[in-house]
Amino acid sequence: MTYKFSETSEKRFQKLQTMFPDKRSLILPVLYLVQKELGFVDKEKMQYIADRIGSPIELAHVYGVATFYTLYNKKEVGKYHIQICENISCYVMGNDNITNHLCKKLNIQKGETTADKKFTVSGVQCLGACGYAPMMQINEKYYENLTLEEVDKILNSLE
Ligand code: FES
Repeated sequence: MTYKFSETSEKRFQKLQTMFPDKRSLILPVLYLVQKELGFVDKEKMQYIADRIGSPIELAHVYGVATFYTLYNKKEVGKYHIQICENISCYVMGNDNITNHLCKKLNIQKGETTADKKFTVSGVQCLGACGYAPMMQINEKYYENLTLEEVDKILNSLE
């Protein structure tokens, strides 16, 4: 099925066009708009975004932006998207233990989604909370100074 903005997103897109007259500046908010609607932005949606923004913006521009930021999910994710920071502070403070523990509990590998589509576990670059390492983000919420016990509690609260 070919993707097209919902009525609400179409209105929002038109408003964004007036707010960001430079077409390059439109890429980030429009990617976010689609992600808010669908939960992810794959290549088909990126092509749609490029077509809707119009020349000189092409798929390569949209793809470049979408793949630079871990904020954008390039494929469908579970209801709870668990993003574990893998950058230096979190690495030194044991992010590997957190990832292994989570993956074992959920019976998936990093980058995978559980069969019931409830959880996806991803490794991401610095989320800007280095002083509270190790940390992870689940959907839009940060969880910091993690321990394995803390991770269990968080997981139970989501199940
Ligand atoms: S290194 Fe993990 S939040 Fe910055």
